[in-house]
Amino acid sequence: METQPNFNFNQFDIKLETETIGRNFLYFNEIDSTNSVLMSKTSKDVNGTVVFAEKQLKGKGRFSNSWESEKGQNLTFSILLNIDKHLKDKLNYLNLGTAQVLASTIESLFHLQVEVKWPNDILIKRKKAAGILVETLSLGADIKKAVIGIGLNVNQTKFIEEYNYPPTSLKLELNQQVEREKILAEFLNNFEELLWKIRNKPNTIMQSWREKCDMIGEKICLNQNGKLIYGVFDDIDENGQLLLRTEDRIEVMNFGDVRMVN
Ligand code: BTN
Repeated sequence: METQPNFNFNQFDIKLETETIGRNFLYFNEIDSTNSVLMSKTSKDVNGTVVFAEKQLKGKGRFSNSWESEKGQNLTFSILLNIDKHLKDKLNYLNLGTAQVLASTIESLFHLQVEVKWPNDILIKRKKAAGILVETLSLGADIKKAVIGIGLNVNQTKFIEEYNYPPTSLKLELNQQVEREKILAEFLNNFEELLWKIRNKPNTIMQSWREKCDMIGEKICLNQNGKLIYGVFDDIDENGQLLLRTEDRIEVMNFGDVRMVN
């Protein structure tokens, strides 16, 4: 028997103020992965489509990890963007910008302090509340589309797996049940504004991200496919790459999993 509350589409729609993002909305009770739906060859690729699932059977995380999320409790969704000439060199802005916008959306709705962890994790009190997986499809040398997948822990209170950063949810942080519809609508409104900024004011994006990151200046360990590199998180550059200060130089890093070292 179905016991989880379903997503209330009317409550979501009333708060959605976008022109494009989320106007084509595909709702699934169960699906393998919302990212996979939009990455598949059969996707109609309507720009701004949002695919939402109550339960993913094969939710994907970064570094080939899985993303586990209890049915009906959280937000697991993906956004499709057709990549035009304005966006094609700006995928890092999309990557880091999405994290910054998600962090700001949660902060302003719930008055929680939310941090970003390079490049695109969302932490509350050093625990992971959300993850973002951006996948792209290229034709020859051109990136044709990007799929931005987001998993935000909203009302789940029990988590099984152990990670570098233990999981948390909004309910665990606020001690109360949270309405998913409002968060999704508000995030998509802000995400559409991010796309405008990427086109018109790209420089502001990396600065806003920095302001949400408390690791800058701290000792960190970067895990690149099992290779551990220690140093100080000096900054990010204008492309969102991590600048790692080691003993004698600054190295530019473009992937890896970061953790703070005490
Ligand atoms: C990570 O932190 O490893 C990224 C997690 C991304 C999970 C989301 S849930 C919705 C979308 N569909 C997927 O299969 N993955 C992303």
